[in-house]
Amino acid sequence: MGHRVLLVGMGAREHAVAWKLRQSPLVDELFIAPGNAGTSRLGTNLAVQPKDIEGLVKAAKEQRIDFYLATMDDPQPLGLVDRLTAEGILCYGPTQAAARLESSKAWSKEFMVAHGIRTAAARTFSDYREACRYVESLGDRPVVVKSSGLAAGKGVIVCNNGHEALQALDIAMVRRDFGSAGDTVLIEQRLYGWETSCHAFCDGKIAVMMPFSSDYKRAGDGDTGLNTGGMGAYSPSAGVTPEMAAAVQREVVEPTLEGMAAAGTPYCGTLYPGLMVTEDGVSVIEYNARFGDPETQALIVRLESDLFEVCRAAAEGKLDQVDVRWSDQASVGVVMASAGYPATYKLGYIIRGLEDIDPDVQVFHAGTKDDARGIVTSGGRVLTVVASGPTIAAARTRAYDNVRRISFTDAFYRKDIAAGL
Ligand SMILES: Nc1ncnc2c1ncn2[C@@H]1O[C@H](COP(=O)(O)OP(=O)(O)O)[C@@H](O)[C@H]1O
Ligand SMILES: [Mg+2]
Repeated sequence: MGHRVLLVGMGAREHAVAWKLRQSPLVDELFIAPGNAGTSRLGTNLAVQPKDIEGLVKAAKEQRIDFYLATMDDPQPLGLVDRLTAEGILCYGPTQAAARLESSKAWSKEFMVAHGIRTAAARTFSDYREACRYVESLGDRPVVVKSSGLAAGKGVIVCNNGHEALQALDIAMVRRDFGSAGDTVLIEQRLYGWETSCHAFCDGKIAVMMPFSSDYKRAGDGDTGLNTGGMGAYSPSAGVTPEMAAAVQREVVEPTLEGMAAAGTPYCGTLYPGLMVTEDGVSVIEYNARFGDPETQALIVRLESDLFEVCRAAAEGKLDQVDVRWSDQASVGVVMASAGYPATYKLGYIIRGLEDIDPDVQVFHAGTKDDARGIVTSGGRVLTVVASGPTIAAARTRAYDNVRRISFTDAFYRKDIAAGL
């Protein structure tokens, strides 16, 4: 009998995963809570929000779901995997304890130091005055001030000097712009280099690496403007050599899994360390305990194996028994957003041109919904257009060619995703 699978989230990442799962003969029914217009065409959207753990458990029982595949960050630190496991539902995703790798930057920093995983030196403070005194003692050495808790990608302030660091402490600990996430902060040495995203399937004991990918966080071309959830991504990541990938597996991913298992909190699910490549080597910027968005949209089209089969094997602790194959093709994903994002923007505009997309190009929905007029915008990031090609340049040309066929009032997108590679 086929499986009844639950996804939680409403992004293009969830649509991409749903699209891939739909191709699995092992999956009978897909449920997405709360989903979007894109996921509603592949499965059943459930009107439950990602942080409503009681609601999700209830819906999972009502719908006789037997597998949960974690994609987004919110539910795991609240214990969704622990709760579903107790109900006898197989889960691919970290327990509450294992999700601390992402949900507490203070905890994960201690973990990395304890296990010799290279990361920027940092000190942790819960007292504002002590934090200020430490910054003053550093003179003008550039630091990064990080709120320890989950802050929806807004809690990290990269500072150029001591003055900016003191301002950052004020924002996090006095104004409390990130709420309780800023009760504890890390003051971290600022590193210089380029960033890449590592993703790995993990079964608690071993990991299978995915290809590397790169994302674009700033709203504007040339990395200007505000930080966003991500405006585009491509894979493979330019500059990551096979030697570098092997070193990341050996020096980051494997010690992480060993350390988590040794602590009695084995890590099952997708592990996504954000990395900075510096002159001295590769350093872990942070752990994410789930799939990246928009990296997943670019990765998923390169996966040739059955995603469900891989995740089920990982959930059963048998990742060594599956073969995970990837296409040699490169992929590029361009996010189309609502003007004003990530600040304020208007919603409810009709999206045109979705039927004009090349058949082998994917449009993964994020902020979209159905209304009487058709599919309309309902969020900041509206959709991701993903194309493949023999080279990144070829994939990029096709992605933008298709982006230009889609239109809605106030649409905006970066013009430089995967440019110059
Ligand atoms: N030690 C550091 N040195 C330089 N830049 C950093 C450092 N830590 C974080 N950053 C920058 O800030 C961004 C966000 O930090 P990260 O730890 O990934 O937090 P989050 O994704 O939770 O906001 C990183 O992608 C990187 O560009
Ligand atoms: Mg990050």
